Amino acid sequence: MNHIMPILREMLSKVELKRVPEQMVMDSEDQTQDFYNYGLGDTTLRASYLFQAKWASKTFANCKRVLDLGTGPANQISILAQMNPNIEFVGVDLSDKMLALAKTNCDRLGIKNISFVQDDMTQLSCLKDGEFDGVFSSVALHHLPQASDLESAFKNARRVLKPDYAAYITDFLLVKNDASINYLLSLNEGQPKIFKDDYEASLRAAFPKENFLSASGKYLEHTQFFSSFGARFLMVLKTKSYDLNPAAEDFLEDELRKLSKKNRGIYNSISILLALDGMIG
Ligand SMILES: C[S@@+](CC[C@H](N)C(=O)[O-])C[C@H]1O[C@@H](n2cnc3c(N)ncnc32)[C@H](O)[C@@H]1O
Repeated sequence: MNHIMPILREMLSKVELKRVPEQMVMDSEDQTQDFYNYGLGDTTLRASYLFQAKWASKTFANCKRVLDLGTGPANQISILAQMNPNIEFVGVDLSDKMLALAKTNCDRLGIKNISFVQDDMTQLSCLKDGEFDGVFSSVALHHLPQASDLESAFKNARRVLKPDYAAYITDFLLVKNDASINYLLSLNEGQPKIFKDDYEASLRAAFPKENFLSASGKYLEHTQFFSSFGARFLMVLKTKSYDLNPAAEDFLEDELRKLSKKNRGIYNSISILLALDGMIG
């Protein structure tokens, strides 16, 4: 596959796409659990989870208590919890079914440093002001209906954070046209159809960069915005990073060793695309 043309087209063309808030959710528990299991295997999804876990661990190096917005079945946060046994994580999700799966999945892995709270991330009404020193979120914000909900989520995240907070927030970013969506889908050929459909719905529901900049400028002002260079479909908002702790480094090395050459290549490609936008150190 020639990657140059789709990337150049995305870089040079005008914005054509309008955000379509996500209609399609994985509505059965079986589908959600399939998705979770897929993320445990030797897959592109696992490569992406490991990349995000590495950088989030670097960002939360000095934290004791970290909140995860839209934790789902705990696929991403369970990796972070294993890499950072000294941090206490709290996963928030609106769905009780998701939280039940998250608990089962963490019990199965013997993870003790995550607890779960059912709440709406745009309100966080169950959480007290200033009780966290870090906030995390992964591929969850695009589920919010409107840009004003993104602002509410950041405003309340800020409310429950201490003044000297750490933040690591990642999600899809709205691309400019259909051709870019088709290109991104083609990179995951061979994926089960249900995941492909969910991926497309998520790409179309992604917020544009301006929405992230506006909400973070108001409420998470210590963060810096990065996106994948060229095909800007992936974003990260983060505060300063530190060295990776030795336990996290060992875990990451072991897990990367389990990946096929192809999926290690995906991990390296994501690293390069974000490094080209300045996410280094
Ligand atoms: C695709 S899952 C992300 C799971 C996980 N964070 C990951 O990285 O794979 C998105 C989750 O966000 C949750 N969600 C959507 N809107 C929410 C809201 N307003 N408040 C809390 N959780 C929400 C959904 O229930 C779902 O579990």
